[in-house]
Amino acid sequence: MDQTAPTTPDLLDRARALLGANDTGSFIKPSRTQYPHQWNWDAAFIAIGLSHLDPERGRQEVRALLRGQWRDGMLPHILYPDGPSGYFPTPDFWRVHESPHAPAFPTSGLTQPPVLATAVRLLHERAHDERASLAFVAEVYPALLAWHRWLRSARDPEGTGLVAIIHPWEAGTDNSPRFDAALARLGPVDPPPYERADRRHVAPGERPRALDYDRFMHLIGAYRDLAWEPAAIWERAPFLVRDVLFNAVLHRADQDLRALAALLGEDTAEPDRWLAATATAFEALWDEESGLYLDFDMRAGEPLRENTFATFVPLYAGLPSRTRAERLVREQLQDPRRYAPGGGTRYALPTTAKDCPRFEPRRYWRGPIWLSANWLVIRGLERYGLTASAEALRKDSLELVRRSGFVEYYDPRDGTSCGARGFSWSAALAVDLLMDD
Ligand code: GLC
Repeated sequence: MDQTAPTTPDLLDRARALLGANDTGSFIKPSRTQYPHQWNWDAAFIAIGLSHLDPERGRQEVRALLRGQWRDGMLPHILYPDGPSGYFPTPDFWRVHESPHAPAFPTSGLTQPPVLATAVRLLHERAHDERASLAFVAEVYPALLAWHRWLRSARDPEGTGLVAIIHPWEAGTDNSPRFDAALARLGPVDPPPYERADRRHVAPGERPRALDYDRFMHLIGAYRDLAWEPAAIWERAPFLVRDVLFNAVLHRADQDLRALAALLGEDTAEPDRWLAATATAFEALWDEESGLYLDFDMRAGEPLRENTFATFVPLYAGLPSRTRAERLVREQLQDPRRYAPGGGTRYALPTTAKDCPRFEPRRYWRGPIWLSANWLVIRGLERYGLTASAEALRKDSLELVRRSGFVEYYDPRDGTSCGARGFSWSAALAVDLLMDD
């Protein structure tokens, strides 16, 4: 390790300072330049970091996010409580006011992986003021339950146990190659007129390609024409994917929601039903031949055969059997042709397998390392007692932030910075990993 690299106390101070600098007073921006509004799973990751640094500020982050909840329970992926900035999509691009469910201020019409119930549970477990913390859990529990109910009713109306996403942005891994085939199937697209703003502060080679963006906008155009009505979207969505990452994160969050219900003396029958249904249905996402969990494209009626880090996220929810967990580690995580350091990369975990022809080490979700991905996988490996693998990944994660700071993502070949600088969840999750000591 480089002698000038920051020590743990230094790193904690830097993380605290960054979260402070990105704090608007009511919510914390993911990045001051690139993402100047509030994002859903960012807020949850930020609250997890704050559970160590400033629990009351962590609770405030959760409350701030819940202000954007729709009347039907949907919790949007972007909130614009302070109106427009230079960011695109602009608040009015979504046309959410055409939905009777939309809240008082503009939001996006999509949702994001439901990490929030997990964040609330961690905030509570780490709280020193038991009574105030319980009051907080009681305050936010109904909103969490309403969101999880909405996910089941709007995104799994047939009650299969697996929910579907309607846009790659809902998986939080925007241009991951796992969605390429489902997006290609859209054919020639007809996006509403728009102007990108995401390449002002970040090099175009580190951002999604123009064709991907056209497809993202085309989908938003289709849904806003349906006034974001879940039943109509379910029937007509051109993109409908049972996503491994989203369903695994939801399954883990259902476990945490159930724990919160038990804590409050609430009935747990509903989360218990969801947990049982998902545990069974999730088996359909496993592909024995490749030894991978694969997303399922509902419109094509077939799996999306791409090897990305999403295949490890079921560990975080305790879904795979022990044998399968060990197989994932042996055949994927430890293979230098795929995810392990060596064969051209120095750090783990690339978000796409290196032997995938669509692997690109600096382009957004097509290869770079993201702290959120590493955190999900580390917590998953720990759950199975796969301590050596968890520790190796934790070590790489902390080395990256020591080396390059809290940036949005990192080049797995040499650890250099990519994307936005001063990125909140990299700081927050580094804090969570540092506190393991
Ligand atoms: C990007 C990421 C998404 C994140 C957002 C704000 O869109 O893909 O996961 O929530 O930025 O940080």
